[in-house]
Amino acid sequence: MDDNRRDQLIAMARAASQQAYAPYSKFQVGAALLGKSGSLYAGTNVENASYGLTNCAERTAVFCAVTAGERDFEAMAIASPGGVAPCGACRQVMYEFAPNLVLFLIDANQSDRVTEVSLAALLPDPFTSSDKT
Ligand code: THU
Repeated sequence: MDDNRRDQLIAMARAASQQAYAPYSKFQVGAALLGKSGSLYAGTNVENASYGLTNCAERTAVFCAVTAGERDFEAMAIASPGGVAPCGACRQVMYEFAPNLVLFLIDANQSDRVTEVSLAALLPDPFTSSDKT
């Protein structure tokens, strides 16, 4: 991926984190997903008074893209305080569509701190459709 595209993805994730609905945790997360078509999709975390109904930013972005008709992805940027790695549930959802996804983890508090990691490294033993007999 060229540097412009990468910067665009990172800026979109940062912007999405500003839209977080996180009145309970106050932990604002933004995600930006790059589809193989070249289209970009944003997502943010959406919490609920019934805590378990919370949707993470990463899954919001994936669901948004799938709703738009895109199912093949190249990279995702995730902006959060500290630049955390995605939760296990989101890793599994990413794997469904993009086992080779590249992730950029962005520390929302430090403009220059971006870590690149592969989904394969974060989810070494996924549950796959071929595991079902
Ligand atoms: N959260 C995300 O959106 N993505 C992550 O990678 C980690 C956690 C959200 C869920 C909840 O709204 C808040 O962060 C605290 O867990």
